[in-house]
Amino acid sequence: MQTNELYRPKLHYTAKNGWINDPNGFSVYKGKFHLFAQHNPHDTKWGPMHWSHAVSDDLIKWEHKPIALTPTENYELDLGCFSGSAIEHDGKHILMYTGCKGVAGESTHQTQCIAVGDGTDYTKSQKNPVINAQDLPEFVKPSDFRDPKIFKTGDYFYALMGAQVYEKNIGTMLLYRSRDLEKWEYVGETLRAQEDGLMGIVFECPDIFKLGDKHIILTSPINMPTQGNKYQNLSSAIYFVGEMDFESGKFTPEYYDEIDSGFDFYAPQTTLNTQGKRVMIAWAQMWGRNFITDQLGHGWVGCMSMPRELILEKNRLLQTPIKALERYYNGRYSNIDEGNVDCFRLNISVDLTSGNNFCLKLFKTSSGCLKIFYDRPTNTLSLDRSQSLYRLDKDPKEAEVKNVRRVELLPLATLKLDIIVDTSLVEVFINDGRHTMTANYYKGNGDVTNEINTDCKYCLDKFDFNIN
Ligand code: FRU
Repeated sequence: MQTNELYRPKLHYTAKNGWINDPNGFSVYKGKFHLFAQHNPHDTKWGPMHWSHAVSDDLIKWEHKPIALTPTENYELDLGCFSGSAIEHDGKHILMYTGCKGVAGESTHQTQCIAVGDGTDYTKSQKNPVINAQDLPEFVKPSDFRDPKIFKTGDYFYALMGAQVYEKNIGTMLLYRSRDLEKWEYVGETLRAQEDGLMGIVFECPDIFKLGDKHIILTSPINMPTQGNKYQNLSSAIYFVGEMDFESGKFTPEYYDEIDSGFDFYAPQTTLNTQGKRVMIAWAQMWGRNFITDQLGHGWVGCMSMPRELILEKNRLLQTPIKALERYYNGRYSNIDEGNVDCFRLNISVDLTSGNNFCLKLFKTSSGCLKIFYDRPTNTLSLDRSQSLYRLDKDPKEAEVKNVRRVELLPLATLKLDIIVDTSLVEVFINDGRHTMTANYYKGNGDVTNEINTDCKYCLDKFDFNIN
């Protein structure tokens, strides 16, 4: 497939060609990071799902490997090998994924499967599917039962699955356990969405891990209704903080919130890095949107977020870009108009006591720019991508809602922004990662500039990159 590189990010993972969505199997195996993704190698649209595969030493530079999973078995025809996860066990790399049989949008039958590999080649278990329709509690149907997150605690392997309580049309998660990866038993219902529908209709792509003395669950609920400035995308990615009981399988939540306040962040997965730090990566795109590089025939679609290190502070998730990005710095500048114009990092501290307005304009061309601006009366930061050369929202009537997102800030005197600008993707880390906003943006033709309009005092550091 011929590709056009105009909008391809340089610091973020993309597949060579074809389509990708969710990150899968994000893990460390034999000291290297492995990242798989939902992948259609034959088209730039979602289609029969394969697992693409890449390996990295530092999560920035990726080496493409052969496709790890191709739908070949009866239990995964014709929809494919859906999302899942990976762990290292006894020198082997174990993948657990959803086999999805059926016809998209009509009837689907989902089961959980295992494949075992050596970091390059993966073989599906003869025992597949290892978790089947008959292993389900009566309130879940095999049409919505997927995305296993596998992990090991004590003597057991566990797998946490996303699902739906079909009679109530709300999301849930189910926990299973196994001693040998072949025979799995149902432990219990881990976390059910609120009955009022405010947490959407299916919990997709769960993840569970410990941060400090709390358990964190991540999930991506389909159709979470908008609540104020939050959950404004078709689907959302959220985190729960609480306590997990592995005996009963039950999670007791204390707090939940949206993970990213931008437009394009879905299906995040985490792994521990070799220093024991928790790192998260997500699909930096969203369902229900126009996929511009598909429409333009560029031969590739989909990109991952910058891997983000996670910490918990008073039950709030803080996200910062991984340190390894700094290894690739090229020039350092103190003016925004020096250095590379569409692939760089900005660190800005704005003294909000010294003025009233702050507006950053990125990718500015004669046809528009991406705006990031502070609004004092509401103490919000907004990300406005309404001037993207190509419309991302499918319905122009919804442009106002779909093209501006706002996040309410804590009442702080200084606004700290750490912004990664990468060709057609921008990630904004606000006030040491208390909020993040991620967006695709398609710049116009001609010369690109970046500028700051403000009456506030500010300090700025700009870095560009050498990633060859
Ligand atoms: C989330 C998701 C998963 C599913 C996969 C299919 O984006 O819908 O639930 O496994 O994508 O590609």
